[in-house]
Amino acid sequence: MTILVTGGAGFIGSGFVRLLIAESADRVVNLDKLTYAGNLESLASVDANPRYRFVRGDICDHALVDALVAEERPDAIVHFAAESHVDRSILSPEPVVETNVRGTFVLLEAARRRGVARFLHVSTDEVYGSLAAPLEATEEFPLNPSSPYSASKAGSDLLARAYFTTYRLPVVITRASNNYGPYQFPEKLIPLMIANALDNQPLPVYGDGQQVRDWLYVEDHCRGILAALRKGRDGEIYNIGGNRSLPNLNVVRKVLAATGKPESLIQFVTDRPGHDRRYALSSEKLMRETGWRPAMDFETGLASTIDWYRANSAWVARVRSGEYRAYYERNYGGRAVVSYEL
Ligand code: NAD
Ligand code: TYD
Repeated sequence: MTILVTGGAGFIGSGFVRLLIAESADRVVNLDKLTYAGNLESLASVDANPRYRFVRGDICDHALVDALVAEERPDAIVHFAAESHVDRSILSPEPVVETNVRGTFVLLEAARRRGVARFLHVSTDEVYGSLAAPLEATEEFPLNPSSPYSASKAGSDLLARAYFTTYRLPVVITRASNNYGPYQFPEKLIPLMIANALDNQPLPVYGDGQQVRDWLYVEDHCRGILAALRKGRDGEIYNIGGNRSLPNLNVVRKVLAATGKPESLIQFVTDRPGHDRRYALSSEKLMRETGWRPAMDFETGLASTIDWYRANSAWVARVRSGEYRAYYERNYGGRAVVSYEL
């Protein structure tokens, strides 16, 4: 098969490309714009492989996308490319809507016109919005997004479904929980806390830190997407969760314990506007239909992630220079420090 991957230079997309090259006979074409979040260093291990091709380009570029799909005639498109960070979507919503909604539309159109046999849209559990315990979203739950990021992902998720319902484009949608692991840009909770802890910098916890997320190791997510790609049914949605729900403060404390740093580094700061309190989902459908299971337990995954960040300090230093500093100041500079009893 030839698989067109979008956003393959990002955190999860690069893991998926490395997995395909290592464990399948498929050809992989990676279309990525290389925004601040795209990093070809993450693909050094596959770069010279004859089954791998990189194309730099924007998924919003109709002419480029259509020509690439016509040229490569992919058997499947696996669509990761997105502006993926809630805080950035709050600071600058425009590129989020543009890439996540319009970019997805452009890809769906090219897939429809060229008769692509499978379109896997990578969505998120954030489309379900905040759920009170003990609810766990199944695929039939209503969409109730809160942030510009999750609303744009819900928009693209619904558009992908509409292309199945209306045009019978063979779409499969996956909705995953929060990922962590090597190569993640240090703007998201776990890599930011690891990078700051290793650097003896304050760990900024939003609000009271009791917001709950379900943590999924990135390789488990990639294997879940592969299972849905190969065995999923047309028009179906599959949740992919890590089966490990934790309040943020517990995650931060685990990072400090595993890095041997003091809890005095924790700094409670002004909460995120519209902050979803709790995400939770059931992956029962994907498990039942494909046999997939999340394999990594959180403590082991966190330890190996910390090892990776320690061993790749040059990678971290490079991505944290330049644009990252400006973002960090914009997002954290104006937040008040709040005191909570630990
Ligand atoms: P990421 O931010 O690390 O990577 C995004 C990639 O997309 C980058 O390589 C970037 O250069 C590329 N990109 C951005 N805009 C583009 C455009 N207009 N054209 C072409 N390429 C573009 O993101 P990630 O964390 O790897 O997430 C990948 C996908 O998984 C996203 O669709 C995200 O919504 C979804 N998802 C992420 C998580 C998570 O915890 N990170 C959880 C569930 C779902
Ligand atoms: P994040 O990794 O941005 O993922 P998402 O918002 O998509 O779930 O954030 C995970 C949780 O961690 C979320 O509840 C916000 C919180 N958080 C902090 O408390 N401090 C931070 O500096 C960041 C980046 C996140």
